[in-house]
This record gives sequence, structure tokens and C-alpha cells, in this order.
Amino acid sequence: MTSTDKEIKILAIETSCDETSAAVVVNGRDVRSNIISTQIPLHTLYGGVVPEIASRKHTERINQVIRQALDEAKMTLSDMDAIAVTYGPGLVGALLVGVSEAKGIAYAANLPLIGVHHIEGHISANYIENKDLEPPFLCLVVSGGHTHLVRVLDYGKYEILGRTVDDAAGEAFDKVARTIGLGYPGGPKIEKKATLGNPDAIDLPRAKVGGSEYDFSFSGLKSAVLNYINKAGMKGETVDPADLAASFQKAVVDVLTDHAEHAIDSFGVSEFAIAGGVASNGALRASMEEMCDRKGVKFYRPSPILCTDNAAMIGAAAYYEYIAGRRDGWDLNAVPALALGER
Ligand code: KG4
Ligand code: ZN
Repeated sequence: MTSTDKEIKILAIETSCDETSAAVVVNGRDVRSNIISTQIPLHTLYGGVVPEIASRKHTERINQVIRQALDEAKMTLSDMDAIAVTYGPGLVGALLVGVSEAKGIAYAANLPLIGVHHIEGHISANYIENKDLEPPFLCLVVSGGHTHLVRVLDYGKYEILGRTVDDAAGEAFDKVARTIGLGYPGGPKIEKKATLGNPDAIDLPRAKVGGSEYDFSFSGLKSAVLNYINKAGMKGETVDPADLAASFQKAVVDVLTDHAEHAIDSFGVSEFAIAGGVASNGALRASMEEMCDRKGVKFYRPSPILCTDNAAMIGAAAYYEYIAGRRDGWDLNAVPALALGER
């Protein structure tokens, strides 16, 4: 680095769902701290995220989490070049806590404010551990709220090839887990149970969607699981939850892998990444890795801690917004249904 190359230090804040997180990220890829205060044990009591509780807990924890992020990075606000915050999509009350906090800090410290799209954050999580990864590449974002197959054309420039027409992949894991009686959050619980079962034991559908060849549908799969349980009950048969978990997980993984492979073929992609909470699923990671190896495509996936909601990924995305000169005003608001690439 030459003496004129300034390090860009960003304090990033993420409160879109049930994780209160703050991070200090330098030049988009060097994470100096990434504090994540999860509310999962609290929401587990209710079988899913309760929006009012999420907002209240964010309010209670945000200041402490930010202080910890700065302390761990051994920096103060005066070292920062910008404040970044997730402003959508997500739960409106939860987003508002982060957005208000970021505006307050940026105003008081006289720093620029950068609103970040949550999905752009998930995609950017891949930059943190892969210093060589640069657009263009293909990315599958699979989380509790989203299932998007995205062409990352450039930093901040995206083309959505396909998306779910009903439930998100993570939502399907959560709903099926509830049906089998495994509780919330469903993804990790199904993954654990699936290790004890046979993924080929139960024949479940791999849905095709009319319209875009890259779109996904998971509600039919969820209904098929429900029907299987009901039919077994009527026949007086017992259901093996491990076989059901393994077969369901395989059905989701197969569809996600098939669509990704199809897009890789169609667009001549040489680099492919996954992101989002479901991207920490071991079966999905193995299936994608095998598919990419077979095709000679370089495969990227964030460590599990960077798959789940966290502020480091927001800081990574914000850096590229910052160097592109994008800034937000004091009128920045939470946008619960913000579309990717809408700025
Ligand atoms: O990205 P994320 O933390 O939050 C959203 O932006 O939605 O994703 C949370 C989702 C939940 O639906 C959770 O069940 C799922 O990711 N998930 C998993 C696994 N870990 C989390 N799904 C499958 N396997 C996992 N190991
Ligand atoms: Zn997320």
C-alpha cells in the first residue's frame, strides 16, 4: 500500500431479523470485529420470530453490541470513515432500530451514512474469506426469507435469474421442522436429524415451476411432507423423523443444485458462490462442491458464522458502495420489501 492509499474503516450495523450485530470492516474484506447477539433462544419459545420481541431486544442490545465491536477492533468512532446499516429487506420494526441508530451515530460523528441491501450483504460475505473473489460470478442466496439465484455482474450490480414463487428454502426447513416436531430454527435441527436417516427412504417431489426456468417452489414439497405424515397416520404406520428429515433435505438440496447447475451451463460461469443461513447446511455445501468440481467451476461458500445474519457482511458490501460514491441522507428509512439492485 502506498502512503496515499487510505484504509477505509466502516462501522456496520445489522438488525433486520433476530440477530443484533455490529462489525468493524477495513477495505471491505478485513474484519476487525463482528459481534453477533442472537435472539434465537428467545424466539424458540414461540416457534418462530416474534417481530415485536425482535424490535425490543434490538433496542436493548444495540448500544452494547456497537461498543463491543469498536472495543474489539481497538478503534473509536473517530477512526471510522462511514457508518453502514441494513435498511431492507426485513422486519420493519427491527430494521428501524438499526437505521435510527446508524443515523444518530453518523450525524453525531459527522460521518457519511450508507444503507445496505441485506441480500447484497449475504452475497458480499463471500468476499471476506476469499480475497481473490471478484465479480462476475453466480450466487445462490438461500436464507429464511429469500431464495435467489443471482448473477453478480459487478459490485452493486445484480441480475436476478430466479427466485422462489412461494416459501424460501429456509422457511421450508423451518415449517417442516415444526411439522415433524423438531422446533425452531428448523434448518440446523433438520440437518442434525437427517444424519440419522436415509435420504432415499421417502419419495418426495422436486418441483418445477412454470415461468422462469430458474424459479423455485417449496410449498409443494412442504405439503408432500404433510401428506406423507397424514397418510401414514391413517394407515396406523409410524413415521421415522430421521428418514423424513433426510429425504426432505435431499429434495431441497437436489432442486437448488439442479438450478445452479443449469444456470452455470447457460451462462458459462466459472465461479459460483452460495450465501445465506441455509448455505451453512453441510449437505448443500457437499452437493454444490461436488457439482462444481465435476464442472471445473470454482466454488465459494462463507464459513457458517458468515452465512447467518451478521454485520461484517454488511460492512463488506458497504465498502464497495462507499468507493462507488454512494451515500444516503438523513431521510434513509427502513424498506421491508426492498428489491435487490433498487437504489
Ligand atoms: O440468513 P439467515 O440467518 O436469516 C435470514 O436472512 O433469513 O437465515 C436463517 C434461515 C432459517 O430459516 C434457518 O432455519 C436456516 O437459515 N438455516 C439452515 C441451517 N442453518 C440455518 N437451513 C438448513 N440447514 C442449516 N444448517
Ligand atoms: Zn439474512
